[in-house]
Formats: sequence, C-alpha cells, structure tokens
Amino acid sequence: MTTGTSGSGWILWITGILLVCAAGGRALELLRATETAGSPLSTPMVHCRCASYPNVTLCSWPGTPHVPPPRYIATYSERHNQSSTKQCHLIPPSSSASAASSTSQQLWHCQLPSLKLLTDYIINVTAVYSGGSSSHLASFMLEDIVKPDPPVHLRVSQQSKSLFVSWSPPPTWDNLDIFPLKYQILHQWEHRGTPKSFKLGPFESTHMELKGLTPGRRYLFRVCAKELLDLGECSTWSSAVQVTIAKTRP
Ligand SMILES: *[C@@H]1O[C@H](CO)[C@@H](O)[C@H](O)[C@H]1NC(C)=O
Ligand SMILES: *[C@@H]1O[C@H](CO)[C@@H](O)[C@H](O)[C@H]1NC(C)=O
Ligand SMILES: *[C@@H]1O[C@H](CO)[C@@H](O)[C@H](O)[C@H]1NC(C)=O
Repeated sequence: MTTGTSGSGWILWITGILLVCAAGGRALELLRATETAGSPLSTPMVHCRCASYPNVTLCSWPGTPHVPPPRYIATYSERHNQSSTKQCHLIPPSSSASAASSTSQQLWHCQLPSLKLLTDYIINVTAVYSGGSSSHLASFMLEDIVKPDPPVHLRVSQQSKSLFVSWSPPPTWDNLDIFPLKYQILHQWEHRGTPKSFKLGPFESTHMELKGLTPGRRYLFRVCAKELLDLGECSTWSSAVQVTIAKTRP
C-alpha cells in the first residue's frame, strides 16, 4: 500500500482500489478494478458537467485503446438512496471526431436528465472487459458541477478613445430568465515581450465600454460565463478577438 498527498486532497492505493478524497469530504472517488487477466484494465475516468442548470448534465470519460474495446455500464443514484439507481443514457464517441483524434481521446458521454437540486449523487461507470471489469465511482452535487459553455459572438469595436466589447450568452444555457449569467472579460497583451493579462468583471450585462487602453498596443479579448449566484465555475474562455488600439491623432 502506498499513500501520497496532492494539493488539498489525498490519494490511497490498496491493491487495485484507489480512493481519492478532497479536503472537506465533498468529492469522493472510488476506482475498483477486478482482474482475472494479468494486464491492468483501464478504468473509465468520469467527469460530469452541468452546461445548463438545472437540466442538462453530461458525464464523460475517454475511451480506451484496449482491443477489443470494453462494454460500458453507467448508472447513477442519490448517494443516500440505493433504490434510486437509474441507467444513464450512453452516447458513444461521435464518428466525426474520430478522424481528428486518436482512439484514447474519444469521449463517451452519458446524459443524466432531471436531477434533484442540492442532492448528492454517485455515478458508477463500469468498463466490462472479457477478462474482468473496472468501475469508477464519482460523487457530485449538481450545484458544484455547473459550468456553462463559453459566450459566443464576441465583438470589439473602437470609437474615439473607448473600446466597446459585446457578446452573446452561450446558446446552450436554456433558462437565462430564471438562472441569469454573469461574465468576465480577459484581456491580454505583451509588454516588451512579456505576456500580461487582466480580468475585468463580473458583469451582468453583455456589453462593456473600456477606456484607458494604450494606443498602438495589440490586445486579445476573451469572455467567460458563470452562473449569477456563483454556482460551479466560469466557462472556458471564448475564442479570442484581437484589436490594435488606433493611435489618436495629434
Ligand atoms: C429513493 O428513491 C426512490 C426511487 O427514485 C423514491 O421513490 C424514494 O422516495 C426515494 N427515497 C427517499 C428517502 O428519498
Ligand atoms: C427542466 O426540468 C424540469 C423538471 O423535469 C421541467 O419542468 C422543465 O420544464 C425543464 N426545463 C427545461 C428548460 O427543459
Ligand atoms: C458499479 O456498477 C457495476 C456494474 O453495474 C456493479 O457491478 C458494481 O457493483 C457497481 N459498484 C457499486 C459500488 O455500486
């Protein structure tokens, strides 16, 4: 048996069973591999995200290059209610993505419809191989895994000494009226070869006027979206828009 610490949590290996506990006991992960063959079986590492609170939760894990590929079983239940176990609807990696990425990078997904608010859930994804099976159990609460998709249609325009930055909310966030979003703007530039960046916000509006930027300097702008009451985390940054601030005439 070996133990190790990483960050604020700890990791414990006991002959094929891996326990990962984050400080505070919120996150619990349990990996269990039962092997009858000699080679180690790849355990599906599950990651869950709610891209539109409270209805659209998707868990995903990378496929394995194992030949033949395993069959997956995914179930979820309320942590304190065994009889609430449900099958998770499996979505195989899309064949369109296969050309670009290698087999191991292709993601399996499963959909968890209508989860209860403020409830601990456990998802169990089991890879069934001919020589045994391997399960990954992850626990989560819907409120902790909220992460919108990034905002879209970022635009930046310059008018005299101001920059006007605007964007649209992520189209996949369904309940904007009931669960509004707030936004942060990231702007990045180089100063004598050194990359610099600065975050602005959060803002509840989808447009902003920025002043005091340096004429002649090139800036990159990106935005991220977060649930207004701070559930979960900010989306990944949107694609960038690059602007060079016009030099004001003498
Ligand atoms: C447990 O889950 C079952 C099935 O979803 C449900 O009928 C039951 O009310 C739940 N029990 C509790 C204590 O929440
Ligand atoms: C979300 O789910 C709830 C309960 O299942 C349902 O009443 C509501 O209409 C759904 N909202 C959306 C936007 O799908
Ligand atoms: C996880 O799912 C597998 C396959 O359904 C099952 O054999 C195993 O007992 C489950 N593990 C737990 C801890 O519920």
